[in-house]
Amino acid sequence: MKILVINGPNLNNLGSRDSSLYGTKTLNQINDDLLNLADEINVELSFFQSNHEGDLIDFIQQNTLIASGILINAGAITHYGFSLKDAIIDSRLPVVETHLSNIHSREDYRRVSVLESVSVGQVAGFGWKSYMYALSLLVEYLNREN
Ligand code: DQA
Repeated sequence: MKILVINGPNLNNLGSRDSSLYGTKTLNQINDDLLNLADEINVELSFFQSNHEGDLIDFIQQNTLIASGILINAGAITHYGFSLKDAIIDSRLPVVETHLSNIHSREDYRRVSVLESVSVGQVAGFGWKSYMYALSLLVEYLNREN
C-alpha cells in the first residue's frame, strides 16, 4: 500500500519557521519519523513538497493510480486552494488533512479549510506528531475500508 505524503508552501522551511507554532523539526526529520512508522505498519510512502499549487496538483494527478491514500499538509493553500480541492476530488483517494498548528485557534482566515469537506478527517495542533497520527489513522481507515 502506497501513501502520498504531500506538503505545500513554506513547509520546506520547517525548522526555521516560528517554532512556537511549528516546532523545531525540519521536514526531512518529520519524513524520517514517518518512514520509521511506515516500516512498522508496513506501508510505502512517496514524499512531495512544493511551494506551488499547480505542482501539488500535477503530483496528485501523476500518482493517483499507484496510490491508496493521501496525507497532506497544504500549508496556506488549505485556506483557499479550490484547484487543489478539485484534484483531490478527481483522484477519489481517501485524504487525511494534517497541520502542525491548531488552525482553529488561529486567525479567522486560517479557521477555514477548503479541504476538510473532501477529507476523511483532519489532524491539527499536535506539531510533528500530527503527521504520525494522520498516517496511523489513514492506514487504519484504509485497512477497514478494503
Ligand atoms: C499550517 C497552517 C497554515 O495556516 C500555514 O499557512 C502553514 C502551516 C500548519 O501546519 O499548521 O504554512 O498548515
